[in-house]
Amino acid sequence: MIEEGTSAFHHERRRNDTPDTGVTTSAAEPYSGMADDYHTLLGDLAEQTWRVGVLPEATRTRPRRSAVVVDLGAGTGIGGRLLATYLPSLTRIGVDRSPAMLALATSAYEHTLLASIDALPLGEESADLMLSGFDTLNYLPIPVLGRCLREVGRCLRPGGWLIADLSSPHLLRRHWRDYSDVQELGDGTALWRHRYEPAKDRCVSVVERRDAAGGICWRETHIQYAVDADQLQELAAAAGMHVERVRDLERDHYSPSAFTHVWTLRKKAR
Ligand SMILES: C[S@@+](CC[C@H](N)C(=O)[O-])C[C@H]1O[C@@H](n2cnc3c(N)ncnc32)[C@H](O)[C@@H]1O
Repeated sequence: MIEEGTSAFHHERRRNDTPDTGVTTSAAEPYSGMADDYHTLLGDLAEQTWRVGVLPEATRTRPRRSAVVVDLGAGTGIGGRLLATYLPSLTRIGVDRSPAMLALATSAYEHTLLASIDALPLGEESADLMLSGFDTLNYLPIPVLGRCLREVGRCLRPGGWLIADLSSPHLLRRHWRDYSDVQELGDGTALWRHRYEPAKDRCVSVVERRDAAGGICWRETHIQYAVDADQLQELAAAAGMHVERVRDLERDHYSPSAFTHVWTLRKKAR
């Protein structure tokens, strides 16, 4: 699976430059370059991941009519649009810290909030269900993930759920240990280079978008943190939640070697 986005994010962009003149670094907001190309690069994969992962689990929770559902790291709104089909009566809130991504998501939610998901601008016990699709939680360093889960625990009503898919430690530590992949696109290419950094237990991925003539459109560095199952259980417990269910993305059981796992965490009922 191809991932993107990061908290330690570097973004370089220079549309129409030649490939050999050196890339100038700009202090662009995270995802400001990726946003335009997101659907071309990752849209199908993100949508499929939602369809077989988070959405069936969300349906299992049988949310009441007009239940409030929050999409953490909503991006361009792929999850919000699918929710309108799968669970049409929900009130959808999309949260993302990237203005460029969220600008493309406004029609997918009743409300969008520009915020970091470790500091949610939501009231206590205001949400029935929180979702996070396409590996968003991997982009949070472990302490930030802990803060995010505590925020989720604060904002969920008692008995509410967080459902999230995460890249597995196996994907990040082994499969992407040193792995490159070229995506051929209608108007150029995207080259992905993944490297696992053992000292920081994270995978650094560089994606370089080139146009049909080979010119670099933009280049970004994305970082994903490996999250072990026992670590996630501990962070959930510290946030007043427990793991109700975990499975491979495409199977009904859990195996450490799967690339993506779907986690269902539940807040204690009163
Ligand atoms: C892999 S994309 C997934 C987007 C969307 N969920 C999807 O399925 O297409 C990750 C998204 O998480 C957002 N993100 C990363 N860290 C975040 C944070 N700390 N707070 C809010 N959004 C964050 C990024 O801006 C990006 O839109």
